[in-house]
Amino acid sequence: MERCKLLPMRHQRLSPPDDRNSLLHSSLPEPVHASRKARWFFNPVTGWFRRLERSANHFISRQIYPRITGLHRIYDTILRRRLTVAESEIGIRGLGSGFHGLRILLISDVHCGPFISLDVLADTFRRSMALKPDLILLAGDMATGRGEELSRCLPAFRELQAGLGIYAVLGNHDHYTGVPEQVCRNMEDAGIIMLQNRHTILQMGGDRLVLAGIDDLAFGRPDLNQALAGKPEHLPVVLVSHNPDVFFDAARSRVDLVLSGHTHGGQIRCPGLPVLVRMSRFRLDEGRYEAAGSELVVSRGLGAVGLPLRFACPPEVVLLILQPADG
Ligand SMILES: [Fe+2]
Repeated sequence: MERCKLLPMRHQRLSPPDDRNSLLHSSLPEPVHASRKARWFFNPVTGWFRRLERSANHFISRQIYPRITGLHRIYDTILRRRLTVAESEIGIRGLGSGFHGLRILLISDVHCGPFISLDVLADTFRRSMALKPDLILLAGDMATGRGEELSRCLPAFRELQAGLGIYAVLGNHDHYTGVPEQVCRNMEDAGIIMLQNRHTILQMGGDRLVLAGIDDLAFGRPDLNQALAGKPEHLPVVLVSHNPDVFFDAARSRVDLVLSGHTHGGQIRCPGLPVLVRMSRFRLDEGRYEAAGSELVVSRGLGAVGLPLRFACPPEVVLLILQPADG
């Protein structure tokens, strides 16, 4: 049940950057079996820790950090020097040949706000485009605590390019802004398609794949049934959900692959130890998990909250390459 504690630390074999603007690379480990045993003392909405964290975040991100000049310099430097591409091939049953080798770029928890400058975010996205993704998925928390933070960063999101499109769902912080509809409008203005409790069909040649998304589990109005309603039977299904705790319900609904963020991988960690602050009820902290024939990928995310720092847990984007599971 403490399986996550046995997870090896990732990013132990990083390839060094060629220069200041290069990306570090690492491989995601093989999937770990996920246990549905929930932490009984952890309630993501009404638990004392989460209420305290939410209140502190509201106050600090709205009243304190915006008044500190140059605060972005710290995290800008971390992004420039430590941005890592975590890569993995993912096998999906029944994947049509048109999707073999499909390159999905998963970007989560950008957290636009006082910690990241527009220039560095745009540069980060521009560098990520060297990975030549076919499909880009934004797994929520584009904003941190205010709607204006995202509006200011829209030019950076316009750097993202992918032939099959760019899709997004909302995270808890997008709801903390108090204007989630504005967050959706901003994303759509930047050419990004919102997948709030709905799905779309992706087509490559004669093959099809269901891409679904749901609202944030804790502070939105998530509806997995609605997201999957009316989808064609027997097609592979990929679901984007900010919060990974939807995994077991998704697996029961025969979703093949769930892509999430939210946990930040702990953000500030002691090397070699489990995460200090867990955001998942089921200890789905980072990396790959499997259960009931489904797989989950949890990204550490790109940005930061609380403090403009990461330690033993670099910012990341995730590059997934789809392959047939039986091939
Ligand atoms: Fe986040």
